[in-house]
Parts: sequence; structure tokens; C-alpha cells
Amino acid sequence: MKAIVFHEQGGIDKLRYEDVPDPIINPTEILVKVQACAVNRLDIRARHDRPEVQPFPHILGSDIAGDVVEVGSEVYNVNCGDRVVLAPCIPCGQCADCLNGDENMCDNQVLIGFQTNGGYAEYVKAPAQNVIPISSDLTYCDAAAIPIAYLTAWHMLVTRAEIRPGDDVLILSAGSGVGSAGLQIAKLCGAKVFTTASTDEKLERARQMGADFTINYTQTDFAEAILDATGGRGVDLVFEHVGAATWEQSVASLAKNGRLVTCGVTTGNIGQIDIRKMYQKQISIMGSALGTTSELRTIIRLAEQGKLSPIIDRVLPLSKAAEAHRIIEARRHFGKICLCPDGVEQAASSFTRRI
Ligand SMILES: NC(=O)c1ccc[n+]([C@@H]2O[C@H](COP(=O)([O-])OP(=O)(O)OC[C@H]3O[C@@H](n4cnc5c(N)ncnc54)[C@H](OP(=O)(O)O)[C@@H]3O)[C@@H](O)[C@H]2O)c1
Ligand SMILES: [Zn+2]
Repeated sequence: MKAIVFHEQGGIDKLRYEDVPDPIINPTEILVKVQACAVNRLDIRARHDRPEVQPFPHILGSDIAGDVVEVGSEVYNVNCGDRVVLAPCIPCGQCADCLNGDENMCDNQVLIGFQTNGGYAEYVKAPAQNVIPISSDLTYCDAAAIPIAYLTAWHMLVTRAEIRPGDDVLILSAGSGVGSAGLQIAKLCGAKVFTTASTDEKLERARQMGADFTINYTQTDFAEAILDATGGRGVDLVFEHVGAATWEQSVASLAKNGRLVTCGVTTGNIGQIDIRKMYQKQISIMGSALGTTSELRTIIRLAEQGKLSPIIDRVLPLSKAAEAHRIIEARRHFGKICLCPDGVEQAASSFTRRI
């Protein structure tokens, strides 16, 4: 089969479009013909230097939608021809966290496309338990755009921060994968959404998606803008993933009893906090790590009902994966970029078609 592989970590030039052997499934696995695979910022870091990456040569891609074309001899709940999306994590299923239903906390879990070969390929294998069926209401690209971005954003807002209707919520970087998902989920939950971006064009897209108040953080201190917009009160909830570059302004944007939930450190992992202000304002700070398969099933249902509509920046042929990495590194994307095997025509996104 054709795949994008890298034999060693490094720059974009390490990505090669090559012939590789088809994956061979074991009795509990299924083989998926990939129709769409979304690109994540983690792919950039994995290609660059993340030490967890295996095997080599490596095939990236954790967000995969396609058709089941082969099932192992011990698989009874999945059939050839099923239209599916894959849950991105393979938990051990045996540790205390897995048995508690917190498989996102499993110390032994592996991420497809990060610690296994992934979906930048014509075929990918996965355990049958990772399969989530999708209806024809969802395009393959819509489905592929969901797992990492929406699951992360859902777990942050709904599960960890317990978002409430009427909350004032600041979503950082509306144009990022997790930010665009967070914006939609916060609106679905009845929040008033404030958001940031580096360009007015991205902010215009955010307003089209329903953002109530937008801030170009390259022109103004976003914490000051938030305090101005809320009459000095601040927001109830901040959705963080940018890390060191925004941390202090994010904390300063919080109202009394405010909650900050974070999943990422794109700009660095050390941030300071004024501890006295934190306890005087009764601020809560929460970490959040991906999410569970049960949450992902809920999100897929909401997408099938049209209540969540993945934002697809563009669809590229698999052979142009390097271009996708270049666009993301340059922050020229809004939402997700999807790769489709060369020759496979895919409709982009139901949301894109509607606006
Ligand atoms: N813990 C988890 O489970 C989990 C899951 C998914 C993602 N994440 C993390 O969440 C973060 C966002 O992921 P993503 O896939 O949504 O990324 P993405 O689509 O590439 O978006 C990152 C955004 O960060 C903003 N940004 C601000 N300052 C930046 C800088 N100096 N360099 C680069 N970007 C900067 C950019 O928006 P502007 O142009 O508007 O500034 C950019 O669009 C990543 O750190 C990722 O690893 C964590
Ligand atoms: Zn486990």
C-alpha cells in the first residue's frame, strides 16, 4: 500500500510517500480502508522529536475514518463493509483506571499513529474495540475530524469543567483544532463564548460559528479585553491549550470562582501563578487528557444529528501530507486538515457546505 512514512525524526522533509507492506491483523483486530485521516499538532511534534514514537519507519495519523475490509477470527461485533471511525487510544483494559471507566488515564495505553502505525496510509489496523460505526449522515472527513479535537474539548468542558448554560467561557485560539471544537461545544451547552485568534480572518470565521465576542490577541492584551467586555468581572471558564505564552493572561481573565481547564502546552509547559490571587478568587485549575470512548460515542451521535459540525479547513491528498504539516506549522489553518488517499474523492464537511 501507499503511505506517508518517516524513517527518522526531524523536519518536514523526513515525510516520504512510499510503498509499504499492508498491515496484517491478529484475531482480535480489524483492517480499515482509510477514507480520511485528520492531522493533529501532535503529528508535528511526533515527526519532530517526541520520544514515545514507535515503530520506525513510522506512519502517523490518529484520527481515522473509513471502511472495514477485514475482521479477525475472534471479532464478532464488526463486519466487513461497516463505515467506521476509530477511537484513537488503545487502553490496556485491565488496570484500575480502565476498570473504573477512566481509560483515558490508563498508564499502559497507546495512541494509534503515535505508538502504533496510523492512518497516513491506504490501510490501517486496530483492535475491534476501537471501532465506532458512523451513519451516512457524516462524511468520512467529518468523522475523521472528530476524535482527538472533539473528544479533548468535550472532556475539558463537559466532564472536567462542568460547563453550565449561561457561563461566560473564553476559548483560546478559535482556529485551532481543539479551539474550534471547544467553541462549538460551548455554544451547544448554552455558554456565551469569548475567543481569541492571531488574525481578523480567523476571528470572522469564529463569529460565523457563533462566537459572541472576539479578540485579536496580537493587537490587544486579551485579559484586558475580557475584563473590559465583562465589566471587570472576568469569565467563568477558560479553555487553555496554548500554554506558557498565554497562561498568565488566561488566569487573569478568570472571574471569582472561575475555572481554568487545560490540555496543551503548544508554546511551553511552564507557567506562573499568583497563589494569593488564586485562593482569594477561589480559582480552580484543572488538567484534562483526551477522553473516553463512551464520550466519543456521544459526540459522534451529536455530529450525526447535526448538533456538532466539524470544521474542515481543507482536504488534501495523502501524498501532500507535507503540505498539511507546513500549513499547520505556519498556523494558516482554521479547524482541521484532512488527508484522503490519492484518488479517493471526499466531500469536506457538512459545516463547510452550509456556510
Ligand atoms: N491533552 C490532550 O489530550 C490533547 C489533545 C489534543 C490536543 N492537545 C494539545 O492542544 C494543543 C492544540 O492542539 P491542536 O491540534 O488544536 O493544534 P493546532 O490546530 O495546531 O492549533 C494551535 C494553535 O495555537 C495557536 N498559537 C498561539 N501561539 C502559538 C505559537 N507560538 N505557536 C504555535 N501556535 C500558537 C495558534 O492559533 P493563532 O494563530 O490564533 O494564535 C494555533 O492555531 C496542542 O498543544 C496539542 O498537543 C492535547
Ligand atoms: Zn489500563
